[in-house]
Amino acid sequence: METKRKLTLVIEPDPILHQVSEEVKEITSDLNDILDEMASIMGQFDGIGLAAPQVGILKRMIIIDAETIAREDKIPLPNERYLKIINPEIIEVSRETCLKEEGCLSLPTIYYTVERPERIRIKYFNEKGEELHLDADGLLARCIEHEIDHLNGKIFIDYVGPLKRKLAISKLKKMKPRK
Ligand code: CO
Repeated sequence: METKRKLTLVIEPDPILHQVSEEVKEITSDLNDILDEMASIMGQFDGIGLAAPQVGILKRMIIIDAETIAREDKIPLPNERYLKIINPEIIEVSRETCLKEEGCLSLPTIYYTVERPERIRIKYFNEKGEELHLDADGLLARCIEHEIDHLNGKIFIDYVGPLKRKLAISKLKKMKPRK
């Protein structure tokens, strides 16, 4: 019998956030439980996206609050609130980029403007193991790009220059751990 896992949010500085996650080999019910728990943690902290390493699991899995993002992007609401993305691969990137302020649940209180490709096309597996393609722009593209970075051990302050990065880390170190 398996013991009930309790996942918690990983806060920077933490070496887990700087490691490359492994590919998911098999989509099990255990994995689906992790995705559901990730959705609940994301909701608890008002996030719109969360990657598995942010809950201490180095597997290539992401959860996106597609409904909240669709409202923000003013596009039709999806059938399902959460978009579950497993083993994503970016297969096309637009040359055009855009700037927008970003935050991250693993870096509370830190917000910086990040330049990212405006549009992407990804290939991924959903939680049923179906291979799908998705074209994204707007906040959805940005969010997916941010979360895929997490799977590659990259966080958004890696884009902002050494001084801002240092400031962010020292601010996070001073903060009390979150409950
Ligand atoms: Co993040």
